[in-house]
Amino acid sequence: MKTTASDLNTTARALVSDGKGILAADETVPTVTKRLDAQDIESTADSRRAYREMFFTTPGIAAFISGVIVQDETIRQKNPKGVALVDLLTKQGIIPGIKVDTGAKPLACAPGETVTEGLDGLRDRLKEYRTLGARFAKWRAVIAVNDTLPSATCVHVNAHALARYAALCQEENVVPIVEAEVLMDGAHSIDRCEEVTDTVLNAVFNELFDQRVSLEGILLKPNMVISGLECVDQASVNEVAETTVRCLRRHVPAAVPGIVFLSGGQDPLTATLHLNAMNQIEAPLPWKLSFSYGRALQDEALEAWGGDSKNLRAGQQIFFQRAKCESAAALGTYTSAMEKEADRGKKGWRPSKVLSATRDKIGRSSVARKIQSSRKRRRAKAG
Ligand code: 13P
Repeated sequence: MKTTASDLNTTARALVSDGKGILAADETVPTVTKRLDAQDIESTADSRRAYREMFFTTPGIAAFISGVIVQDETIRQKNPKGVALVDLLTKQGIIPGIKVDTGAKPLACAPGETVTEGLDGLRDRLKEYRTLGARFAKWRAVIAVNDTLPSATCVHVNAHALARYAALCQEENVVPIVEAEVLMDGAHSIDRCEEVTDTVLNAVFNELFDQRVSLEGILLKPNMVISGLECVDQASVNEVAETTVRCLRRHVPAAVPGIVFLSGGQDPLTATLHLNAMNQIEAPLPWKLSFSYGRALQDEALEAWGGDSKNLRAGQQIFFQRAKCESAAALGTYTSAMEKEADRGKKGWRPSKVLSATRDKIGRSSVARKIQSSRKRRRAKAG
């Protein structure tokens, strides 16, 4: 099939249509096994299928989710009725996407750093994934930060591989999500995160240009510019929003239709607050800012489900509610009152005990932490 730049652009724009974002459900088997193990759920092909299916069949979810990224096992799986999992998505108008990298591997001669692999045979794998229904793809480059890392070598090789992947995707009429993740792990400040994110985005867009990737036919998936998890001085929600948007404006051409953030280990509410604050910035932005969250969309639902079909509705309610909040954040219209809203309008949907308990937990943990730290900062500033 002949690829046209306009096909790619149509798909990319559909993925970031108003108030919609992406569910990243593409954890590899070892990673999803770790998540299931943590909930005492045995990881089998069947339990992993049931877990993914919970998300894919959540009633009404297509109002907030434009696309779902899956991995090799899931794109080949069928439910007990013989329906392919990707067909469960396409029937609702949700676009299937596929993770195509084969993981971040230790980078030779660069202790503590990785390079993402998966270019060998990629052209043929993309052809097959497209016949299985994938219309977009993901490749994740991982950049570790400390006072001396990342090395120029690490940034260069990862940016180069991302662009090679992106060009191959476009040739196969698959929209590449270009994911360059500057990790949150570490004690670095938000300023250091901005400096490294600047360097990484600069390298990525240079490589995309050099390798003739059509910017109208990609989505960028970056980290938010944020303080390291162990940094004593945690930046406020507004600082994160302003710094992230400032950094993106410097490097992301207006031709790119959308930027879909990863959550990167932020708790769900914090990820929502940050996205919302960015979308409330008044000056017009040239691209859509939305989400492509994994953990922030899944973790609470996984906990509520616990591998028991009796809890399917509770898990789906939690996922629905979280996606609804993210959707509002993608429009800049999120309010904390939305966390408490029951889905009264939905026939047969009552908030389960688990849902209420999770909302209470969210309320106590993240909001309280945010308020406490902003009070502490105000007190420190006041002298
Ligand atoms: P998180 O939102 O959990 O960071 O995952 C997003 C993702 O797709 C990482 O590659």
